[in-house]
Amino acid sequence: MNHFLKMLDLTSEEIDELLNLADQLKFELKNGIPHPHLAGKSLGMIFEKSSTRTRVSFEVGMYQLGGQALFLSSNDLQIGRGEPVEDTARVLSRFLDGIMIRTFEQTEVEKLAQYGSIPVINGLTDFCHPCQIMADLMTIREFKGHLEGLKLCFIGDGNNMMNSLIVGGLKTGMTVSVAFPKGYEPATEVLEFAAQYGDKFIACQEPMVAAKDADVVITDVWASMGQESEKAIRENAFKGYQINTELMSVAAPDAMVLHCLPAHREEEITAEVFEKHAAEIFEETENRLHAQKAIMVKVMSGNK
Ligand code: CP
Ligand code: NVA
Repeated sequence: MNHFLKMLDLTSEEIDELLNLADQLKFELKNGIPHPHLAGKSLGMIFEKSSTRTRVSFEVGMYQLGGQALFLSSNDLQIGRGEPVEDTARVLSRFLDGIMIRTFEQTEVEKLAQYGSIPVINGLTDFCHPCQIMADLMTIREFKGHLEGLKLCFIGDGNNMMNSLIVGGLKTGMTVSVAFPKGYEPATEVLEFAAQYGDKFIACQEPMVAAKDADVVITDVWASMGQESEKAIRENAFKGYQINTELMSVAAPDAMVLHCLPAHREEEITAEVFEKHAAEIFEETENRLHAQKAIMVKVMSGNK
């Protein structure tokens, strides 16, 4: 694995290997067993959007692996003043051993990987959020013991989270059902990918249909970063797409609830459901650290 750009690039075996390594690194951390797999290496973290979890978990994760992480805000980088990504990629490749980037366009991440000569990790684009999905899969496996055969349901916007969960869920043997309002569909290439899975993929407009007998119910904000000006229109469009007690009553009795956070209570999820499932949700947050350490070890262990 040279880069970690989107779930569509990964085989089911690679996902499985990453999850196993993440579990092992979590065990080692909890038991005080050092694992300096990336000693002496440097990760540059380019942020063109805000972050709490991604920034802290990558920075701490790199430290725990024996390396260092540099926070590179696009407000300060020349990329923010128009230096092309093709040049930024070649420049950073001369100093660093890996780049994590959070940005808008998926093509920017792909270009960084194409023009640079070091591994690139996608820390969120408008198209996908693969690091989050690895943490979500890790958490589901931790709570349920397996992934194969479970039903994963996502309610809300056809955004980066829905796109990546559809792919990650199907590749790990789950049935995936999604419900979104008309006009807020997931990406066409994701729907094309999902079509090969026949009745293991359900896309509809009715949250109650999507959530029926689900083992895992997931949602995300209605207005993602960069869509703040559409918030009022979106709030209107997503009425009825809330995770609440009524919706959870049709899911499996022991269903988990996940949310990548930040969460907006009484919008996409009620405070009641959120707090009832806080144990899973914050384990999911912690698992960002372990899953991303596994990703960094896999892509950054080799020589430059
Ligand atoms: N879930 C997630 O990626 O959080 P941040 O935006 O805080 O990094
Ligand atoms: N869909 C959200 C995810 C945040 C982690 C966004 O892109 O803002």
